Amino acid sequence: MDKIIVLDFGSQYNQLIARRVRELGVYSEILPYDKPLEYFKDDSIKGIILSGGPNSVYDTGAPRISKEIYKLGIPILGICYGMQITQYLFGGKISPSNKREYGKSILNIIKESKLTKGIEITSTVWMSHGDHVDELSNDFIELGNTDSCIAIAKHKDLEIYNLQFHPEVTHTTFGKEIIKNFTLNICNAVPNWNLDDYITTTIKSIKDKVQNNQVILGLSGGVDSSVAATLIHKAIGDKLTCIFVDTGLLRKDEGDKVMSLYKDNFNMNVVRVNAGDQFLNKLKGVIDPEEKRKVIGNEFIKVFENAKRDYKDAKFLAQGTIYPDVIESVSVNGPSETIKSHHNVGGLPDDLDFELLEPLRELFKDEVREVGLNLGIPKNMIMRHPFPGPGLGIRIIEEVLIEKVKILQDADDIFIEELIKNNLYENVSQAFVVLLPVKSVGVMGDKRTYEYVAAIRSVDTVDFMTATFSRLSYDFLDIVASRIINEVRGINRIVYDITSKPPGTIEWE
Ligand code: XMP
Repeated sequence: MDKIIVLDFGSQYNQLIARRVRELGVYSEILPYDKPLEYFKDDSIKGIILSGGPNSVYDTGAPRISKEIYKLGIPILGICYGMQITQYLFGGKISPSNKREYGKSILNIIKESKLTKGIEITSTVWMSHGDHVDELSNDFIELGNTDSCIAIAKHKDLEIYNLQFHPEVTHTTFGKEIIKNFTLNICNAVPNWNLDDYITTTIKSIKDKVQNNQVILGLSGGVDSSVAATLIHKAIGDKLTCIFVDTGLLRKDEGDKVMSLYKDNFNMNVVRVNAGDQFLNKLKGVIDPEEKRKVIGNEFIKVFENAKRDYKDAKFLAQGTIYPDVIESVSVNGPSETIKSHHNVGGLPDDLDFELLEPLRELFKDEVREVGLNLGIPKNMIMRHPFPGPGLGIRIIEEVLIEKVKILQDADDIFIEELIKNNLYENVSQAFVVLLPVKSVGVMGDKRTYEYVAAIRSVDTVDFMTATFSRLSYDFLDIVASRIINEVRGINRIVYDITSKPPGTIEWE
């Protein structure tokens, strides 16, 4: 299968570039910039995109590539830092700058090329850079500019293109066309990546790999493990057993819903382990958020390991690992990954007793969703907001008690129900209720009440690394607050969380 490689120099837009290429039907992979040259001597690699990145080419330790990569005969598109590193290696001059140019600019095309075929002479592009190219290498010609910089360049003889702006971002009006021109008309990649074929070939390869062996899978009810389970079940039927650990810290009726969908509806072998009491016992007196995460994570592993003992004959452990989890990226040491490490709670340690089966390893989240829909998983399960591994344990501030779990489940359920009813659920990225360890005085009927305060949280985000609070209307918030206070015993006051991330985090603990 033809593919386009995105070389990662640390840009936050890497995954977006690969997604844009895949949308064209061409498979795309993200690799670290220092991948050995040997790797590229592969006929299926039809093009290379050098991504942007936060460095200046003059920084000590700035990511560098060998100039040999340009001699492989593979078309190369350098974006932002990718343009600067190309010019640096070919003898151009880069101007360091203390001020970033960030935002929209007007691009003027001064010379036509295959890259800009079909796009207007002037259009809007998205800039996000500090340095820019002051003087092009003698081997290159300028094809376009903005008020402030050289915006497009091409090697005089080779299919090497440079862009100072970001075509992968939707603010660049003709960004998609540019990526399309590069992928299909310059690299001549054959667009034969599609999810129907992916499903068919993956089902076949699961069958071939598993043969007559048994597979176990930890089903959480979340999108990734559910789609993995459904795909594997399609391939090997009863040879798959799913272990569903009900921590007692899930959304209202979640356990029953998971069982009814996957066991009753899809006829999968799903074993539900009701471990709610066990988790609550361990959480007695635990107040510190990190400690809670640890307790829940360790208990999860214990319960799962225990359940697994009944399946000694199983040869494979299946997991819903997806592509963003496995990208060998230079951002691995960056802040994004540090934040993520505490999210791995609920993940399982390396298990040498089993071979791993990870059928979604190559897919982005929205591709996983599409596969799920294609396999018949209902849309409301597939489009669900993310839910953290430690569950309601980190949404009940301070000690987790059974009565508080119940109160929070009921309040959260009302909030989500109203979001769905008002067609807001799919507009916001993640919404939930947090139960605070604070009581306040209220009046209901003629009676004084003294009950808990709950916070409503709803955020809008693309990557969950940064987020802003959702601008829900006062009228809508009023409906939710009234319903919770009237219907949920134990809460008599609602506040709306208007903190962005950063400086806040999405969860409260
Ligand atoms: P924060 O609170 O760090 O959350 O802004 C970002 C996203 O990650 C989710 N989250 C978790 N997911 N285990 C998970 O599986 C965890 O321990 C965890 N903590 C936070 C959070 O719900 C949000 O989507």
